Amino acid sequence: MTTALFTDEFATARDAADPLRHFRDEFLLPLHAGTPQVYFVGNSLGLQPKGARAFVEEVLDKWASEAVEGHFTGQSQWMTYHELVRDPLANVVGAHAHEVVAMNTLTVNLHLMLVSFYQPTIERTAILVEAGSFPSDRYAVESQLKYRGLPPHLTLIEVEPDEPDGTFSMQKIAHAIGEHGPKLALILWPGVQYRTGQAFDLKEIARLGHAAGAIVGFDLAHAIGNVPLQLHDSGADFAVWCHYKYLNSGPGAVAGCFVHERHARSARPRFAGWWGNDKAERFKMGPEFHPAPGAEGWQLSNPPILGLAPLRASLDQFERATVPALRAKSEALTGYLEALISEQLSDVLHIVTPREPLRRGCQLSIRVAGGRERGRALFEHLASRGVLGDWREPDVIRISPVPMYNTHADVLRFVRAVAGWRDGD
Ligand SMILES: Cc1ncc(COP(=O)(O)O)c(C=O)c1O
Repeated sequence: MTTALFTDEFATARDAADPLRHFRDEFLLPLHAGTPQVYFVGNSLGLQPKGARAFVEEVLDKWASEAVEGHFTGQSQWMTYHELVRDPLANVVGAHAHEVVAMNTLTVNLHLMLVSFYQPTIERTAILVEAGSFPSDRYAVESQLKYRGLPPHLTLIEVEPDEPDGTFSMQKIAHAIGEHGPKLALILWPGVQYRTGQAFDLKEIARLGHAAGAIVGFDLAHAIGNVPLQLHDSGADFAVWCHYKYLNSGPGAVAGCFVHERHARSARPRFAGWWGNDKAERFKMGPEFHPAPGAEGWQLSNPPILGLAPLRASLDQFERATVPALRAKSEALTGYLEALISEQLSDVLHIVTPREPLRRGCQLSIRVAGGRERGRALFEHLASRGVLGDWREPDVIRISPVPMYNTHADVLRFVRAVAGWRDGD
């Protein structure tokens, strides 16, 4: 059935009216049979901004021509290089500059945060997470419990989803926090759940967690650059994230970390390294560690400058595009995908992600009628047509129209490719 939504004219007109349309030209799109892929996998690895190469080359050139002096010369000297990304990063996550730092990788940062913020007492030993959390988070939490000599089967609380597609109502989360409140030491919750694409009200979760007497931390791997964040105002104690998904900073990019300013001068235990030492003392090479105030006090090592460089290109794009404009486009684009699936493909695709825009980012997680094998078959069919989503076991295809570079025309190509598969074309 051809409706207005399902026409090239509609998609083309929407794309022509998109105030962010020029950003697509700033990315390198992989080709499929000579034409750009329909790339819906920004939830896994964002595309390369064309500007990234210049930032990497700048570091290589500086290294070549100055070697060790590169630490101390010019605006992009390596000694203070991580500070170049601090302000724009703080803007993207809604934090003060001293509350954020780019360092390490996500799981490393999570461990560092748990070392400081998970302080079990006789009464409060439990960590509460969502059932089905990203495996690395679960491994991190479980290993921290074991490291403290606590049995995970008694101290790890995994909240089961209460909605039919594996999503959570706020009432369920509130109930779980209330039920376990007196024994909760810490809550670790995602900003956007990786498998279902559900986005959460972080301020409310932090409020509930604090009211119960727990520390509250967030994993924002799928939230940063995808949904607007107000980390400072949310009141969260800490948050961690990566930059290789919606922040388009390349495979294994240096990650990020937020520590709320109320902990800026925290005396909590921490795993220390020289780069977290107060800047005035770092090079005195003394035996004592006096942590720098704010998130930077959790740094361990001098940062991998080559790994940080692409983040500068990406943050420059976020500064120009702005989070509110990206969000407005994202709602339109994902809304278009949802509308076309409902209109054209409801016999074969079932959307798992919540329908309310406030409860999701750009990603729609989709199950295919007929189960896992049919799902795999469709996934492979799409890939063979140059339409790339990703597969998450046991049976979910994730499709993420990213507002920075995807278009309505991309969405239309996806829907036509699924319809073609269904109709045996
Ligand atoms: C939700 C979530 N948490 C943690 C991780 C692990 O990240 P890393 O390998 O950067 O530590 C990922 C990776 O995709 C993720 O999606």
